[in-house]
Amino acid sequence: MDGHDTGSRRTDGSAEGAELTLEFARRLSEAGPSRLGEAAQATVERLHALVTALRPTSDEFRIAIDFLTEVGHYADARRQEWVLLADVLGVSSLVEDLNTRRPAGATPNTVAGPFYRSDVPETAQGASISRDGKGEPLAVTGRIVDLDGQGVAGATVEVWHANADGRYENQEPDRQPEFNLRGRFRTDLQGRFRFATIKPRGYALPSDGPVGRLVTTLGLRLERPAHIHFRVSADGFETLTTHVYDEADPAIGRDAIFGVKPELMGRYRVLPPDGGPRRHALDLTLVLCPPPAERARIQGRL
Ligand SMILES: [Fe+2]
Repeated sequence: MDGHDTGSRRTDGSAEGAELTLEFARRLSEAGPSRLGEAAQATVERLHALVTALRPTSDEFRIAIDFLTEVGHYADARRQEWVLLADVLGVSSLVEDLNTRRPAGATPNTVAGPFYRSDVPETAQGASISRDGKGEPLAVTGRIVDLDGQGVAGATVEVWHANADGRYENQEPDRQPEFNLRGRFRTDLQGRFRFATIKPRGYALPSDGPVGRLVTTLGLRLERPAHIHFRVSADGFETLTTHVYDEADPAIGRDAIFGVKPELMGRYRVLPPDGGPRRHALDLTLVLCPPPAERARIQGRL
């Protein structure tokens, strides 16, 4: 149907868009309700509205299709370009936020990212996780507490971070020792843990694929500010997966995956010189909350 020669009818294409949207909904309704149908309907409604608003030319539409095709070609078992696309559009962080809402005072969850390993052996309190000794020394002390500020004893604290060049151990297995900058600690009776490591550096997301090219073409950045990843699990609490960022990193306000939150700022202190490289210290507190079912039960009782 041509929207440009119909006299009194609207000529901006919105009538055609609305008709298509209704027709799609009518066909879906014949198939009966389902979650997939609900998602398809919501997606198609918004796609039709988007196309109507943007009115892409055929060439522009082909460029968009070519881009999505290239994203698919870049994705394989080692590299997930689709996840990268979701990350840089803020979708991954939004899905994480919506699925892991926590009560006030609890440390927010963030995405785990692609570099987590679950097979790191337990590490003794105070031990160094820098297995190659490269970088500026960093002493981390921390405490795992509940919503009342009471220490959580026996919690498992998994930690992983990039090296001083912004690279993870499993990105360059030939250059870094196995489990470099990874540890697994158990909190003491007061919920405390501590370890030695090196100060991590921020890094950039891959720029060599279609997603990196898109971000760069848009004039946006691929940088991630320096951070340390944590995963904390303990009986009776919801597992927390989060980052602690270096609040002094110049990229702190433009994390490419939109993961920075005020509660996740870490303040690194420079320690007095001892003749060697610059040394740093970081003290942090991570607050756990009960699992969702337990929270609902407590709320129902109030
Ligand atoms: Fe990371």
